[in-house]
Amino acid sequence: MKKLTSESLREMYLNFFKSKGHAVIPSASLIPENDPTVLFTTAGMHPLVPYLLGEKHPAGNRLTDVQKCVRTGDIDEVGDSSHCTFFEMLGNWSLGDYFKEQMIPWSFEFLTSPDYLGIPVEDIAITCFAGDDDCPKDEESAELWKKCGIRPEHIFFLPKSGNWWGPAGTTGPCGPDTEMHIIRNHADADKLGPYDFEKAQKGTFLEIWNDVFMQYNKTAEGKYEPLKQRNVDTGMGLERTLCILNGVDSVYETDIFEGAIAKIEELTGKKYGESEEVTKAFRVVLDHVRTATFMLGDDHGIVPSNTDQGYILRRVIRRAVRYGRNINLPKGALNEVSKTIIAKYAAVYGELTRNASRIAEELNKEEEKFSATLKQGLKEFEKVAASLPAGGKIDGHSAFRLYDTYGFPVEITMEMAREKGLEVDEEGYRAAYAEHQEKSRAGSEQKFACGLADHKEETTKLHTATHLLHAALKRVCGDDVNQKGSNITEERLRFDFNFPRKLTPEEVKQVEDLVNGEIAKDEPVVMREMSLEEAKKEGFTGLFESKYGEMVKTYTIGDFSKEICGGPHVERTGVLGTFKIAKQENVSAGIKRIKAVLIAKQ
Ligand code: ALA
Repeated sequence: MKKLTSESLREMYLNFFKSKGHAVIPSASLIPENDPTVLFTTAGMHPLVPYLLGEKHPAGNRLTDVQKCVRTGDIDEVGDSSHCTFFEMLGNWSLGDYFKEQMIPWSFEFLTSPDYLGIPVEDIAITCFAGDDDCPKDEESAELWKKCGIRPEHIFFLPKSGNWWGPAGTTGPCGPDTEMHIIRNHADADKLGPYDFEKAQKGTFLEIWNDVFMQYNKTAEGKYEPLKQRNVDTGMGLERTLCILNGVDSVYETDIFEGAIAKIEELTGKKYGESEEVTKAFRVVLDHVRTATFMLGDDHGIVPSNTDQGYILRRVIRRAVRYGRNINLPKGALNEVSKTIIAKYAAVYGELTRNASRIAEELNKEEEKFSATLKQGLKEFEKVAASLPAGGKIDGHSAFRLYDTYGFPVEITMEMAREKGLEVDEEGYRAAYAEHQEKSRAGSEQKFACGLADHKEETTKLHTATHLLHAALKRVCGDDVNQKGSNITEERLRFDFNFPRKLTPEEVKQVEDLVNGEIAKDEPVVMREMSLEEAKKEGFTGLFESKYGEMVKTYTIGDFSKEICGGPHVERTGVLGTFKIAKQENVSAGIKRIKAVLIAKQ
């Protein structure tokens, strides 16, 4: 096996697929644009859903990338050796081009060839779809693996719960997958029959890569129809693979965190690994600061708040502060650690350097805010806990007071309660919260696992309205105003932009009038594909650095709006109805937010 650094593994993966005719595309934003169904990008395929559904990708039908991902479902587990909230996914895609006959030999070559990862064939186990009433067993994949040289005893079969990817319970493209695992315990693996994979001891297998073969469309009636465009979607965890190649147990022992660990050791005088408690605190700080750095440093960057993504970010930073206390992390340390992370990733994710001052400012601000109430809050928590019998429940009002007065996200209170063998009355907490705020936060991104692109009529209209709003803001507030984030649901659009203050009522009216004027003209919305260079030259606006490949789609609305965008859009503005700004909010000092709606024509 080859020992590799994170830099060389990224490069090797992309180069391998480049040599197989793939275009290397940049990582998309961590904050999904125009997709209300998930809070964060959770897999490499996520930003590519429209293309997996048949839309033409400007870079072609063979793509490869390294995608920034966040999954916070297991945030309370972070601190052990395997859980992380941020990770990078290496991936490649066939959009209706090659299929499993091609992908499986490529996967085998990359894993085993001495020119690439050089993993011994003997150490690889494969799982394939076992088949059920809906779809047949994936014998094809198993045969292809055997042809490559995988021993039949190392090929296992799993039902949909293990070897299937796609919308669970909903409609859309999906299919069987085949997963590649490293065998860590041969004696145990050898005892298992072809359907016994799940009977293996913990740690016998370690998953490294997943090839998904999207060949079905699940219909509303629950039927699986063969897809016209068959796709391949693969995902390999960068951190996991690094651990395997370097023979270490956790990502914290790879090159990724070397600089950050040295910094924490310097700041605290503690040594990573000196005790279980210290190691856990180091890991929580390392993981959470990295996640916060990427969330804040994204070009669609978010800031801590009490709702949606901002709430998750707040939780992550505050949990880092709490654990930082256990190792006497001094004030301002999160920012110091963050700087080492930025330095480590600077060559790959230029946005971190571009947004470094925002990262520093927001990290410091949030750390200060929470530190100011942490001590008192912990005292309050101890008081509440001491009043309860063993195994008791913290009532909803106390949990809400810890949140509202001392800034403890309820999940942190729950974690602290668990550490004392106590529980929290979550329902009671939610009721207390709802009493105080009509608007409760939308849950975690888990709630919406694997969201698909939303091309509903209302959201399509709101996409077009967003372009009109953007152009109108430029006219009313100045040409420097730019989109900093966008999120669309069926009910409303949400648009973040740089501006130092809220708009006056007159300005709001001017913006609304401009947009409604364009709607009244019933302008056509014209799409043209061109190179990014051309688009820039022709004065189209868009986030140039972060996410586009060479060819881009541009949308022109009369002589009013010119934007680079993935769509979807209506054909003419006349169908939009009446545009109304419903609300203005403060996102941060320099970023304002508008929520707006379209009122249907009577
Ligand atoms: N989309 C697949 C995964 O995330 C490759 O595992």
